[in-house]
Amino acid sequence: MIDVLLGLQWGDEGKGKIVDYLARQYDIIARFQGGPNAGHTLYVDGVKVVLRTIPSGVFHDHCLNLIGNGVVIDPVSLQQEIAQLLPLRPDVLSRLFIAHRAHLILPTHRALDAASEAAKGAEKIGSTLKGIGPAYMDKTGRNGLRIGDILSKDFRKKYDKLVQKHIQILRQYGQEIDWQQWEQPFFEACEYLRSLQIVNSEYWLDKHVKAGKRVLAEGAQGSMLDIDYGTYPFVTSSNTIAAGVCNGLGVPPSRIGEVYGITKAYCTRVGSGPFPTELDDEVGEQLRKTGNEFGAVTGRSRRCGWIDLVALRYTVMLSGVTKLIMTKADVLDNFNPIKAATAYLADGHETNELPYDLCDANIVPVYKTFPGWDKPISSCATYDETPQVFRDYCSFVETYLETKIAYISNGTGRDQLLIIS
Ligand code: GDP
Ligand code: IMO
Ligand code: MG
Repeated sequence: MIDVLLGLQWGDEGKGKIVDYLARQYDIIARFQGGPNAGHTLYVDGVKVVLRTIPSGVFHDHCLNLIGNGVVIDPVSLQQEIAQLLPLRPDVLSRLFIAHRAHLILPTHRALDAASEAAKGAEKIGSTLKGIGPAYMDKTGRNGLRIGDILSKDFRKKYDKLVQKHIQILRQYGQEIDWQQWEQPFFEACEYLRSLQIVNSEYWLDKHVKAGKRVLAEGAQGSMLDIDYGTYPFVTSSNTIAAGVCNGLGVPPSRIGEVYGITKAYCTRVGSGPFPTELDDEVGEQLRKTGNEFGAVTGRSRRCGWIDLVALRYTVMLSGVTKLIMTKADVLDNFNPIKAATAYLADGHETNELPYDLCDANIVPVYKTFPGWDKPISSCATYDETPQVFRDYCSFVETYLETKIAYISNGTGRDQLLIIS
């Protein structure tokens, strides 16, 4: 079976830390979508590492790591990421596998991302500017280049054809770009990628699963950034929900086992777009400071607010989450009261369903208020040691979402985790 771990909010729920912890129970960790827009933070022996495209199982000697076909790969960025890991894990390359069918991010995709954002002005998405949207557009537009193309003798020809297309589009944006400056590093990185283990990942995974290997599919971004179900158009360009695992790894739905859904004990968002429980006040500022809510990739400050159970119930439903994981519970230690949105007043009508368009509707969250807790969660070694008021908060979340919490994370460290079931 293939278990899945994904974010239930707008990303940055702490997926990297949790995958790094769970990886001891798995043989293979496989990324199924996204690309270097992701920033998954791990603390290993006190050293902070931010992973972008490489799966978060890389710090376990027994774990193989697959970059699946649903991922978009920036060769230069991937090479840099490997270079950063090599001193920490000299064997990283022997345990890293890349899908033939994964698409490439070209330097001109990044230029297109920036041009598109600039043209949108105040309505910009707040993209990470890593070229994600344009690379997926070329994939669905059937123009893209794939990892397998790097191995082809026609690679240069295919590249030139696509770049000419990009230059035309950039001209329509009124931009003349000196793209040649990016070519040497790009081709050098592609040459480097040729030396890595490129596999037909759907067969590769099938063989491993049939041999009884345990696989964990690692999501990037979060369900509210899903291209179909997120707060469109303020989303990323891939399917971040569990359905993305089947497309992104070539596995049948019947092979999906547990679905772990991660939520922070509160909520954050980076980039533009609706965020009903956002706090534009001192409480929001305090959440940002205490939670150190600054983007792992871009350094941008994250918008902060209370947990949104309406949105969470929606994303739990979409992915069929079987186990919840709550992270950053320690961040709420000094807050009193603590709130959770249990319904929306959308254009004056109370609902606990997510409206079709969060951008247009006038949404006011309805909150349930909880007292703060008197003992820091960060100091607790087991769930039983946590204060009753905290457990009441967790029970309420479980009941509302009709899903049990399996783990509670109470610090950045690998083992700062309270295991419930
Ligand atoms: P990801 O993209 O989902 O992997 O999450 P990020 O790494 O972008 O952001 C999560 C941030 O929260 C990182 O800085 C983590 O080190 C940190 N973090 C994860 N879990 C906890 C936790 O339980 N408590 C605290 N205080 N920080 C945490
Ligand atoms: P991880 O995996 C948080 C956001 C961007 C922007 C929107 C589109 O670390 O949770 P894109 O570059 O994908 O075109 O940007 O999505 N975004 C993320 N926000 N965490 C992420 O990844 C994100 N990846 C993209 O801020 O609003
Ligand atoms: Mg992140």
